[in-house]
Amino acid sequence: MTPLISSWEDYQRCYAESVADPAGFWKREAEQFVWEKPFEKTVEWNFEEPDVQWFIGGKTNITVNCLDRHIERRGDQVAFLWEPNEPGESTRSLTYRTLLAEVNRCANALKARGIKKGDKVVVYMPMIPELSIALLACARIGAVHSVVFAGFSAQALSDRVDDAQAKMIICADYNRRGAKHIPVKAVVDQAMDLGCNSVKTVLVYNNTGKEVHWSDDVDVWWHDLVPQQSNKCEPEWMDSEDLLFILYTSGSTGKPKGVVHTCAGYMVYSCYSFRNVFQYKEGDIYWCTADVGWITGHSYIIYGPLLAGATSLMFEGVPTYPDAGRFWQICDKYQVNQFYTAPTAIRALMAQGDQWPAQYSLDSLKVLGSVGEPINEEAWNWYDQHIGHGKVPIVDTWFQTETGGILITPLPGITDTKPTYASYPMPGIQTILVDAEGQEITENEVEGLLCIRFPWPSMLRTTYGDHERCRQVYFSSFKGLYFTGDGARRDADGRLRIIGRVDDVINVSGHRMGTAEVENAINEHPNVVESAIVGYPHAIKGQGLYAYVITQDKALDDAFRQEILEVVTREIGPIAKPDKIQFVEGLPKTRSGKIMRRILRKIAAREESNLGDISTLLNPDVVQSVIDGVLD
Ligand code: WTA
Repeated sequence: MTPLISSWEDYQRCYAESVADPAGFWKREAEQFVWEKPFEKTVEWNFEEPDVQWFIGGKTNITVNCLDRHIERRGDQVAFLWEPNEPGESTRSLTYRTLLAEVNRCANALKARGIKKGDKVVVYMPMIPELSIALLACARIGAVHSVVFAGFSAQALSDRVDDAQAKMIICADYNRRGAKHIPVKAVVDQAMDLGCNSVKTVLVYNNTGKEVHWSDDVDVWWHDLVPQQSNKCEPEWMDSEDLLFILYTSGSTGKPKGVVHTCAGYMVYSCYSFRNVFQYKEGDIYWCTADVGWITGHSYIIYGPLLAGATSLMFEGVPTYPDAGRFWQICDKYQVNQFYTAPTAIRALMAQGDQWPAQYSLDSLKVLGSVGEPINEEAWNWYDQHIGHGKVPIVDTWFQTETGGILITPLPGITDTKPTYASYPMPGIQTILVDAEGQEITENEVEGLLCIRFPWPSMLRTTYGDHERCRQVYFSSFKGLYFTGDGARRDADGRLRIIGRVDDVINVSGHRMGTAEVENAINEHPNVVESAIVGYPHAIKGQGLYAYVITQDKALDDAFRQEILEVVTREIGPIAKPDKIQFVEGLPKTRSGKIMRRILRKIAAREESNLGDISTLLNPDVVQSVIDGVLD
């Protein structure tokens, strides 16, 4: 494999090279992989259509590069360590050799149920090794996986299954999360009742042994199908630009969109970014606490670490079960070297008190990572002092479902870190800040809209089934640029600090929510006339959801609030439940009838003294009544 970036000078040299000759730079990275047929051209692109292709003409299979390629040198090395939800239960470990055999068995099982190249498979599973086996099995045979986070409801699941026209769903009987056992097979059953007509098989892993409802015509137990398959399965050789996976994510309008990633570019960048951002060295134990339902889990639990031949830990449970020391206990138990989590977890654990990490040595840690939302200074300092003991570099990594991999981050031990700054772009990532008109802002100590002007291998290729939406959302705001939807500040040294979304996407505990999506769910309640959702600062979640609701013929009481929460839980899932619901008589609107979210955001944040000019509103009188009813 290519050498890791080794110093600040080396980073600057790599960055300069990647800009001067992107094709040469990425060709070198790509050549270290196994190709069944070498690529003929490194990159072709235009951001108008958009049309982006990498490693054109090549054929490969990502599982060959994750697994087969490593067998000779590290067949007996552990690929995954697994820590169960219940601390006393036995742990598991899978070597590269065992993982390959299991993946092949599962791949043969998928084939036995008629799954072939190009078919879509929805995965709705807990954090157990079979989840990684299921994804890799899809990739082995060229099926396209689409993981749906297990916190989404039956409705949300069936919407995604229908959009992808998935032929199979893979799930467990129950998921275990702390003290709770979640009946996920029952959720799949409901989803099947709501839609999912394309689904021919529901493959169920027996995780808890609890009873489940069974339909013989579609349901198949994992243990009845997978173990008896052959442990050999020839990989399907995929064109570089064949689909690898679809991952649904929220946008500012309408339903969630399926972000499409393709085989070769994603492979090259997830490996490159994993190795460099975590400075992974042979023998290290790496742990990312994300759920595989999000992009962080795809790139930095499954693909990046396996491509790099790493040993990583997978954890089934939650940070606070059985107590708030669980993460730190696990770090000591497995002697974790690189630990990667989200600010919301850091804040939640910080709130439980310093005595929890104080019980553990945490001496093995070499790198601490943060991802998913802005990390505030207090949380950064706590992470630094109480987990890193002031001597472990923190990498505040910025990326998106759409970017496939980490694009802006300090490199540990290489970049001088500064709290709350994601710092500098990775080699190959040409970030720029623009103003609202799309003019590049070149000076420092400014804020602007974060864009990228050159493609990188793991960027999204399209939104599934709706290429025009992809063009509109990401490439139409500013000509020739990919627009991230984030605002950023650049300091005097050129470091970037991500401020957050400038569109109608709200980041709650690192989970992306679209305002329109949550409003549509609330509006399903028959007594809701109209609603508006905004984000407001929340001590643990980063941002909380604040709902303003106009109602009709219904007592404005807690029972009604409860019904609204139930509707949202049904339509999207518990993760989208508003933290506060204020009943209002009207919503401030522009003369053209658009809800003025800027005003609602300020009121929810208790900045009502600073609303600016409201005289041009259609209904300025409504503002005072909204302020009068604001919830603490
Ligand atoms: C936000 C998550 C600040 C950002 C990997 C982005 C961050 C959205 C950071 C993508 C960070 C992610 N600092 N904000 N280090 N990382 N974000 O698609 O607003 O779930 O646009 O991908 O999370 O969320 P997504």
